[in-house]
Amino acid sequence: MHYFPIMAKNIAVIGTGYVGLVSSVGLSDFGNYVTGVDVNESIVESLNRGVPTIYELGVDDYLKRNLESGRLKFTTDIDRAIQAADIVFLAVGTPQSKSGEADLSQVESVVQSIAANLNGFKVVVCKSTVPVGTNRWVKQRLIELTGNSADGPDPAFAVVSNPEFLREGKAVQDFFHPDRLVLGYEHDKAREYMEDVYRALNLIHVPMVWCGLETAELIKYASNAFLATKITFINQMATLAEAAGADIHTIAHSMGMDGRISPKFLHPGPGYGGSCFPKDTHALVSTGEAYGVDMSLVREVITANEELKLLVVDRLLKMAGGEGSLKGKVVAVLGLAFKAETDDIRESPSITIVRRLLDEGATVQAHDPEAIENFKALFGDEVRYFAHEFEAIDGADAVVIATEWNEYRNLDLKRAKTVMRGRLIMDARNVLEPEKAREFGFEYKGVGR
Ligand SMILES: NC(=O)c1ccc[n+]([C@@H]2O[C@H](COP(=O)([O-])OP(=O)(O)OC[C@H]3O[C@@H](n4cnc5c(N)ncnc54)[C@H](O)[C@@H]3O)[C@@H](O)[C@H]2O)c1
Repeated sequence: MHYFPIMAKNIAVIGTGYVGLVSSVGLSDFGNYVTGVDVNESIVESLNRGVPTIYELGVDDYLKRNLESGRLKFTTDIDRAIQAADIVFLAVGTPQSKSGEADLSQVESVVQSIAANLNGFKVVVCKSTVPVGTNRWVKQRLIELTGNSADGPDPAFAVVSNPEFLREGKAVQDFFHPDRLVLGYEHDKAREYMEDVYRALNLIHVPMVWCGLETAELIKYASNAFLATKITFINQMATLAEAAGADIHTIAHSMGMDGRISPKFLHPGPGYGGSCFPKDTHALVSTGEAYGVDMSLVREVITANEELKLLVVDRLLKMAGGEGSLKGKVVAVLGLAFKAETDDIRESPSITIVRRLLDEGATVQAHDPEAIENFKALFGDEVRYFAHEFEAIDGADAVVIATEWNEYRNLDLKRAKTVMRGRLIMDARNVLEPEKAREFGFEYKGVGR
């Protein structure tokens, strides 16, 4: 995609993880001059060599291409990057703190750096997911720290809330073809700059929602909490369908035919995970408490999701003969990432599943096409890891399919039967055909059917 902005901007993207790296390559592909900044030296070193530090489809090509164009580079020197920038994007982490609210320490640290390097007008754009009120706090803090004004005809800086909606696994596609851009702003100068930055997307008629800072912040949380609710709803319905002898797929499919419902996010599974839904639902509940509003529905979703994740091993235990029946057994877990097409294991249902299997006394043999290294950092040698799914299945009494990687959809059941010791399959993603699995002599259980 090569639509260049009217005025190419100098941009600093602070934080080069999933959001920051994709934004860096995307914004430079739009013709801007981008410096990606990270505190992690090995990330910076690797990115400057053109080697992505995350697994994300297509990001390697965009990285190489834009490094070669001279419009993209990476550094740990945040001061110089901010000094050279017209626009500073914040893409640092906002993880869940112990009390449930968002931990804003990374954002605070970047704000300090911006204050120390405010050598001319800059637009400060927050892409990180931050609770309502954070962008106003950023504005106020920069005023306090620099003694400058962010209002009037000649502001020293302006703040924009530009929450990110990309999906891991489809992040590059989502960056270039988002459903919409949300831009919370107060000063017209900020809007002019953002129109330039996103000119390429405006030209292809991506809807732009211009709104206030607080509205932009809450759009992000409302969207994530709604999607988490939708997933949890269908997962709980799947449990009921299972108990009542109904088929959740036909139910979900028929529900989705109703235009008011839509078929998306109605796929039953082991419960939601990932780096966003769990922490963002918790943060929204905390925000509600701070404002004296009981976000009771979202609280229930969090509780229900935790219970649903435990059901995967409950189902397997039932098949294996009840409590204690997995002791000494070998269980192959296929899929460690929280969803397919990513190496991200943050809050992955596989973490709950594997922990529970180990607690039950099972030996876990795991496979994942991309996420093994990340999982190793968490479980070390408590788990046996294999580069091929058939090595993981070899000698197993049971198989749990925990991530919907394409390669598991056409699992060679004939071969599986010859290498496995047992016959149990717990398909937590419903990727196999139940009848086919049973024809091959497996005892098969999916979710909600
Ligand atoms: N991952 C997603 O799918 C996704 C989608 C939408 C929104 N978000 C939001 O975007 C934000 C970033 O998420 P992510 O998944 O990219 O996080 P991440 O953990 O992958 O990346 C954050 C990066 O920031 C770096 N960092 C931390 N402090 C820094 C500092 N002071 N200066 C420079 N770099 C620093 C870290 O080293 C890390 O590489 C979060 O608020 C998240 O909620 C994430």
